[in-house]
Amino acid sequence: MIQNNILWSPLQIGGLTTKNRFAVLPMECADAAEGGHLSQDMQMRYDRYAEGGAGLVFLEAVTLQHETRSRDRQLLLDVYKKESREEWERFVASFKAKHPNTLLIFQYHHAGETAGKEFSRRVTVKPLTPFGGELIDAWYIDDYIHRQVETAKFLYRIGVDGIDLKFCHGYLGSQLLRPYNDRDWKYGGSWENRSRFAFETCERIRRAVPDPKFLIGARVSMYEEMPGGQGHAGADSFCYDLSESIALLQGLEARGCSYFGETIGNASVYWENMAPSPSCSTNVYQHLTMAKTMKEVVQPQTVIIGAGMSVLGDGTHNQLRGVQPERTSLLHVAEDALQNGVMDMVGLGRQALADPYLPCKVQSEQASDVQWCLTCNLCSELEMRGKSIGCAVYNKYFADLWKECRSEFGAPSQIVTGD
Ligand SMILES: Cc1cc2nc3c(=O)[nH]c(=O)nc-3n(C[C@H](O)[C@H](O)[C@H](O)COP(=O)(O)O)c2cc1C
Ligand code: SF4
Repeated sequence: MIQNNILWSPLQIGGLTTKNRFAVLPMECADAAEGGHLSQDMQMRYDRYAEGGAGLVFLEAVTLQHETRSRDRQLLLDVYKKESREEWERFVASFKAKHPNTLLIFQYHHAGETAGKEFSRRVTVKPLTPFGGELIDAWYIDDYIHRQVETAKFLYRIGVDGIDLKFCHGYLGSQLLRPYNDRDWKYGGSWENRSRFAFETCERIRRAVPDPKFLIGARVSMYEEMPGGQGHAGADSFCYDLSESIALLQGLEARGCSYFGETIGNASVYWENMAPSPSCSTNVYQHLTMAKTMKEVVQPQTVIIGAGMSVLGDGTHNQLRGVQPERTSLLHVAEDALQNGVMDMVGLGRQALADPYLPCKVQSEQASDVQWCLTCNLCSELEMRGKSIGCAVYNKYFADLWKECRSEFGAPSQIVTGD
């Protein structure tokens, strides 16, 4: 096995430095308390990620209004409510006191047309099959941009290291950007209009918080894999065209983004494109290719964080063919990708659910103790069924929860959320 040195080298992101090249990717686990309040389970989960040794931990998709959530138990930060501000302030102070060397970045979330119909308000920029929703106007988006700016000012004040703008996986940020949003309005039609939400949000946050030690970054689906989706050639085109995705990266970078998270797909259309499993493990090549493409079109100092790599595991179960298994392990591919400029940081999604301690174990040469994620997507099935989420292979509580789900709902024909 090649040496893992580069995995442990520090990395500058904007005005901050991570201690190593591992990032825990944003993963909502629907374990908030009633009303989206912070729960003990959620706080312990974040402690484990930090104790596990990753240099950067993303706070999952957090809704900024209770009515714009995807999951009933999605975390909420309502910056206009004192109680909400106070609980976040306490959580961040406690996290930072315990883990001063771990960067903590907060992901904004607005579900748009994929908001839960039973418990949330489903809104749309242009009704899309099968989601539908209530048509929104420019005032709605203006107001939401303002909320995002106020939230960023608050997060900066309480010591969060940055915010992750969400232009991926088919949520509101994607819905506005995609060519399918061809309705002629302030935030739709031409590229100038469709990119206005992304660019104004970034520009106004940077103006409100000019400190380079407060990072602004974005998670971008380079393509959505649906006709008219992000990274497709037109409002109803089946074909990919990355030119707008590239323009988005470059426009955000010019307005103050210092990192981008690679991703592809739409969680409500084709989950396994975003989160590959062994039956479609070659999707990992698409993730790596997109990371490399992103790296090539941004400034050298702009950091690219990879994703979709849990399927690689220890190289024994990923079912990749035409290559020696030992070359396909997550650690081998990660080190190779860092050394060859494919990405700057390795994002861990489901692998961090299966074993948040991977970085520490590998660094202390206990890689043989790592609980490798099998990418069976049982955790994703829990998400699809509206349950709280965790690893149903290595954690008995979630294994039992998954069994209950199976007996109640049966096996899903495919994993999708947001129906
Ligand atoms: C249970 C679950 C929840 C997720 N929640 C989020 C989220 O809140 N925000 C986000 O950008 N991506 C989310 N994702 C996508 C992951 O961040 C990641 O991109 C994906 O799982 C692929 O990486 P992996 O192969 O390491 O799992 C989620 C994935 C899973 C499995
Ligand atoms: S249930 Fe566990 S092993 Fe299966 S994909 Fe999720 S985290 Fe990985």
